[in-house]
Amino acid sequence: MTLEMRSLSMTINGEPVGPLDVPVGMPMIDFLHEHLNLTGTRFGCGQGICHACVIMEERGDAPPVEHRTCVFDAHFFNGKSIVTIEGHALLDDQGEVRSLSPVQQAFIDHFSFQCGYCTPGFVAGATVFIEELKRKPIPRGQLESAIESALNAHICRCTGYVRYYEAVRDVALATPGCVIG
Ligand code: FES
Ligand code: FES
Repeated sequence: MTLEMRSLSMTINGEPVGPLDVPVGMPMIDFLHEHLNLTGTRFGCGQGICHACVIMEERGDAPPVEHRTCVFDAHFFNGKSIVTIEGHALLDDQGEVRSLSPVQQAFIDHFSFQCGYCTPGFVAGATVFIEELKRKPIPRGQLESAIESALNAHICRCTGYVRYYEAVRDVALATPGCVIG
């Protein structure tokens, strides 16, 4: 049996990728791991439930969205601009980390994770949430429940979620324009 191949191009972490011949039906997470050596995206349940495997899709002026890479084929992302966990930090000219993103730094400051397996997905989910708030701020009194709703689908086997949620709350309060009042 021969695999059916199809051309695939996208932008990943600001860099054009492709066109590459990629097997039809290959899950996006396998494409990231096996073709691009971007291994930071985590394979958890493999069934679309845990959200460990989430990456972001950038959409110009619209807020980014999350996608689960275990249930979407690589070709679903053809022509899209995506950000994996390797693309959140600011790098210098030598490719070394100059600064973490505000969400990444807040997770460290709050000791939000233990094993860290779920963390790439939480970084993507929290970043999407903050970008949504920048475009559509909410009253201060709704912030905690909004964080819970936004990150509810992300499963962590180690922590009680509280430190993740507290970190995201601090980023929202420190980012101008996210919260009203
Ligand atoms: S590994 Fe993709 S949702 Fe769990
Ligand atoms: S820190 Fe271990 S699964 Fe979340």
